[in-house]
Amino acid sequence: MRTVQVPLDDRSYRILIGPDLMPQIGRQCRRLKLGGACTVITDEHVRPLYAKTVLNSLESAGFRTHLVSIPAGEPSKQLKMVHRCYNALAEARLDRRSFVVALGGGVVGDMAGFVAASYLRGVDFVQIPTTLLSQVDSSVGGKVGVNLKAGKNLVGAFYQPRLVLCDLDSLKTLPAREYRAGLAEVIKYGIIDDATLFRRLEKDMSKILSKDSSVLGSIIARCCQIKARVVGADEKEGGLRAILNYGHTIGHAIEAITRYGTFLHGEAISIGQVAAGILSRELTGFPEGEAARARHLFEITGLPTSLKLSTLQRKKLMDAMQLDKKVSEGKVKFVLASAIGSVTPGHTVDPRSVHAALDQVTS
Ligand SMILES: NC(=O)c1ccc[n+]([C@@H]2O[C@H](COP(=O)([O-])OP(=O)(O)OC[C@H]3O[C@@H](n4cnc5c(N)ncnc54)[C@H](O)[C@@H]3O)[C@@H](O)[C@H]2O)c1
Ligand SMILES: [Zn+2]
Repeated sequence: MRTVQVPLDDRSYRILIGPDLMPQIGRQCRRLKLGGACTVITDEHVRPLYAKTVLNSLESAGFRTHLVSIPAGEPSKQLKMVHRCYNALAEARLDRRSFVVALGGGVVGDMAGFVAASYLRGVDFVQIPTTLLSQVDSSVGGKVGVNLKAGKNLVGAFYQPRLVLCDLDSLKTLPAREYRAGLAEVIKYGIIDDATLFRRLEKDMSKILSKDSSVLGSIIARCCQIKARVVGADEKEGGLRAILNYGHTIGHAIEAITRYGTFLHGEAISIGQVAAGILSRELTGFPEGEAARARHLFEITGLPTSLKLSTLQRKKLMDAMQLDKKVSEGKVKFVLASAIGSVTPGHTVDPRSVHAALDQVTS
């Protein structure tokens, strides 16, 4: 088992990463001296696979348990589900000493985390992320929340868990497409911070695609370490945390214009990162060969690196970028690379350059 410490003073916590960890959840919660009762929040895909193991472990460690299961998928990240969970917690008579366990992907983690942050003004929160994306990204950093009709993640809080437990075995049941989408964030960590990680991904991608846990553990741990360090230096997104948005300016716009129906998030930011690589080549001296290596790595991972866009859709894409939350004072800001492993945020880019980059990722 590997451990990554997230350094946030009195809210510091540990991420445990390894195979067969779910049966240990009870013991780990006991170790943290969490309260006597807990509610496990999960979704309908994950519940039949893992809820029993988690509940058994918690009960064996002496906790009183309750289970709430929500429909799987992004539409569950809404206030109506939060409300349903509050009622379930109240019915189960969870008090201030109790805790919430999020068992599932980023949807469950974000929604259940918001429930934990606000129920009785905050109860302890433990995450068991079961998708690759949630293990390397959404479970690290303390952003919790839900969507509104007006947009994604518009209601939320910064609320750190007491513990995150990444069981590598849970990835075995994850659909291949979801798994590959998570790898887009893994590759992102290589590009933004760690050329050695990037080279390992190039070398070991076939093992990674076969979910070989001997390579996965160290790679997931490295991603968590990078995010933990960035978040530790900039918990509330003042500056450095922005580098995590590499590829996301165009990626989010692609998701928005396709109404979140065509591409998974990881697929959209794969195309976004290829476009950011092209912009970086033009504007921040990213060597041509490195941009090509990045594109190739997305390709061999089985991620999309281009999309079809009509003229109207292209206009909508440019407009959608203006609406993205990374716009400040009317200017779209990009994170750009100067080398694999080194990026800087805050670049204002001329729309003509954006169009030229889009020409190379669209047909
Ligand atoms: N809080 C943050 O910092 C942060 C960062 C990135 C993304 N997010 C959020 O995360 C969400 C996306 O998370 P996600 O990609 O994990 O999606 P998800 O939670 O919808 O999970 C994807 C699908 O896989 C299923 N699933 C989960 N684990 C499984 C397993 N082990 N085996 C089989 N099926 C499984 C789920 O039921 C779902 O159908 C978005 O809402 C996004 O906004 C948050
Ligand atoms: Zn992302």
